[in-house]
Amino acid sequence: MQLTDKINKLRKEKNAIILAHYYQVPEIQDIADYVGDSLGLAQQAAQTKADMIVFAGVHFMAETAKILNPDKLVVLPDMNAGCSLAASAPEKEFRAFVNSYPDHKVISYINCTAAVKTMSDVICTSGNAVQIVESFPKETKLIFAPDKNLGGYINSITGRDMVLWDGTCEVHDILSTEAVIKLKMEHPDAKLIAHPECKAALLQLADFVGSTTALLNFSKNDSSKKYIVATETGILHKMQQQSPDKTFLIVPSDETCNCNDCPYMKLNTLEKLLSALENGQPAIELPEDVIIKARKPIERMLEISKKMGLIK
Ligand code: 13P
Ligand code: SF4
Repeated sequence: MQLTDKINKLRKEKNAIILAHYYQVPEIQDIADYVGDSLGLAQQAAQTKADMIVFAGVHFMAETAKILNPDKLVVLPDMNAGCSLAASAPEKEFRAFVNSYPDHKVISYINCTAAVKTMSDVICTSGNAVQIVESFPKETKLIFAPDKNLGGYINSITGRDMVLWDGTCEVHDILSTEAVIKLKMEHPDAKLIAHPECKAALLQLADFVGSTTALLNFSKNDSSKKYIVATETGILHKMQQQSPDKTFLIVPSDETCNCNDCPYMKLNTLEKLLSALENGQPAIELPEDVIIKARKPIERMLEISKKMGLIK
């Protein structure tokens, strides 16, 4: 039997849902029940009636799904699929940081561990960060963690002065601004679309900044025929599927590399996905008290996003 046939048979037998991020390899995106950005994936996880969630993404995403579904089996095809942003904020150091700003509220980007979520007032994603920040009165003192690029970008467009944790995404932070300038000169008809995890210098050159879903929608609905895309390569699969007549040029990370794959996202393969579905392993496990504390700020994010019409 083909790999995909085996997956299809098992997903039915086990009443499993396959959730995949846009940075997954094309064959995983094509077999998934839902492909989306972090916000869409969290919403799907919150709503699913499936007994088992196969999360084709990275650890913090599967952990979020488990927090929202403590009684369901949540598997991640490769347990080593981490994230440099989540790793940048270890529990002990983050607690000390938060304690040193006792009068601040804490907004954490979803790319963080469950432990950091327990210390947060609300979670955000790149798809709702502006609305989450603006849900606090102007005078409220805020900490934003762990992505200093996203936090800095939100500060710049909202006029806030949030205290930023010093973390970055190892994929987006090294996308080359010089390469962008060169590409813009070579392709003056192309628009630059960028993910807010990129450096400020690159974002300042962008025609549009947004989450992976927002970039995808922009590239579909906009009138341009050519785009310089500053995010992880996986998104090109859907962009090209949705707009076969358009050209997408990916921003390289340096002179020697023409790709920018997230090494963690790309650990998942169809073979590992089948194995996780078959064996119910590797499964996400979390202590009950962590689940209870971490769920509150995630639910708050989903409530605000619903109120703002960002999700249904
Ligand atoms: P979004 O899914 O919110 O666009 O974030 C991209 C990302 O880096 C996920 O790890
Ligand atoms: Fe983390 Fe960056 Fe990879 Fe997203 S692309 S999972 S933020 S390291």
